[in-house]
Amino acid sequence: MSAATPPRSVLVLGGRSDIGLAIAHRYAAGGASVVLAARDPADLARAATDIEIRHKVSATVVPFDAVDPDPDRFLDSLAALPDTVVCAVGLLGDQTRSEADPAAATAVMEANYLGPARVLGAVANRMAARGTGCIVGISSVAGDRGRASNYVYGSAKAGFTAFLSGLRNRLARTGVHVVTVKPGFVRTRMTEGMPLPGPITAAPAEVGEAVYRADLKRRNTIHVRPVWRLIMLVIGAIPEPIFKRLSL
Ligand SMILES: NC(=O)c1ccc[n+]([C@@H]2O[C@H](COP(=O)([O-])OP(=O)(O)OC[C@H]3O[C@@H](n4cnc5c(N)ncnc54)[C@H](OP(=O)(O)O)[C@@H]3O)[C@@H](O)[C@H]2O)c1
Repeated sequence: MSAATPPRSVLVLGGRSDIGLAIAHRYAAGGASVVLAARDPADLARAATDIEIRHKVSATVVPFDAVDPDPDRFLDSLAALPDTVVCAVGLLGDQTRSEADPAAATAVMEANYLGPARVLGAVANRMAARGTGCIVGISSVAGDRGRASNYVYGSAKAGFTAFLSGLRNRLARTGVHVVTVKPGFVRTRMTEGMPLPGPITAAPAEVGEAVYRADLKRRNTIHVRPVWRLIMLVIGAIPEPIFKRLSL
């Protein structure tokens, strides 16, 4: 597919996330106006002003909760449907807690699969009717193979990855493109305090750059640091009898 023209507007769902904000800055640097959607919009006013001052584009903040069962109400509240919609909503949660407490597990499943899939499904219908647009979903390599240490989060991301893949397939002839992002480790609030290995850990700004390029080049699935494709190939190839004895 040929390269797209630079988007003139972007909506970032989960706009308070470190990755979401970095993506917003990258689109703004390319001249796109920005809408940040988050549970606590008041908290984001300064971030929006910062984007406006740095990039000379408009940046607004709107209230958004991904667990809202009626995404059309949220979409109706927007001034316009943007060229690109990025979903950076996510919740790592605590695997041990999720095993003991179904409510904790449900929160992780909702934040990583149900909420993002529901709102992007509604966005997709509107973009398909318009005949243009790009939808970017931040999923995870954690969805490629369930591991004992974070399979509740991983399974929700697996569902989200499959949803994005199906959506891309469905929209292929409508002029709407779907990008799946599997960032690998990224230094953010979500991973704060974790001992992440430097060479395979990205900064949020790298994710912003990779997402922006993927939108322009109409890429389907991207890993921010390409080495993650190889790592996941190896992890995926480990036979189950061996895999279940590993502490991954
Ligand atoms: N960091 C990594 O290593 C890594 C790796 C792979 C994938 N990811 C994915 O990248 C995305 C961004 O994560 P991050 O690393 O930037 O972490 P983050 O800063 O913790 O961002 C997660 C964001 O999701 C928002 N969120 C959670 N539940 C929500 C809901 N019900 N409605 C609206 N917003 C909600 C949070 O909102 P509040 O600000 O209101 O809490 C937060 O801003 C997530 O999807 C994450 O799973 C991250």
